[in-house]
Amino acid sequence: MSADAEAPKDEKPAAADRRSFLDLLIRGGLLAGAGAMAAPTVAYLWPARAGGGKTAKVSAGPVKDFPVGSARMVQAEGKPIIVIRAAEDRFRAFSAICTHLGCVVKWDSGSGKIRCPCHAGVFGTDGKQVSGPPPRALSEYEVSIVGGEVVVTL
Ligand code: FES
Repeated sequence: MSADAEAPKDEKPAAADRRSFLDLLIRGGLLAGAGAMAAPTVAYLWPARAGGGKTAKVSAGPVKDFPVGSARMVQAEGKPIIVIRAAEDRFRAFSAICTHLGCVVKWDSGSGKIRCPCHAGVFGTDGKQVSGPPPRALSEYEVSIVGGEVVVTL
């Protein structure tokens, strides 16, 4: 046989290599595309499966410097929080954002109430609306005493 007769045999393995390479490329592209489409869904669902996301803790200062009947404003994650010492062993923390139109509420030590300066909304030390236009109570946060500090958990 001549060398010309063997030439097509050499081309078939090269064509098969090209074909398998293209198959591999297409499968890899499809797999990468599927991964790219699934990644945002997995990222969205991951915190929910882990228990609802992160929690933040912020100190409102030492218990000894927090007289009964007083309140403090603290910030956590950009949110104003009002912390009240309603009794000797009773601390409560609420979002300081009024549930009416979002003004920042303030503690009124004279009346022992939380007041909104915008439309005269009034809340009790339990965070529930007492009078005025606020449609619902202030959101409450957990308070604990850790090493003599008043700690609010968001
Ligand atoms: S915003 Fe607080 S009473 Fe209107």
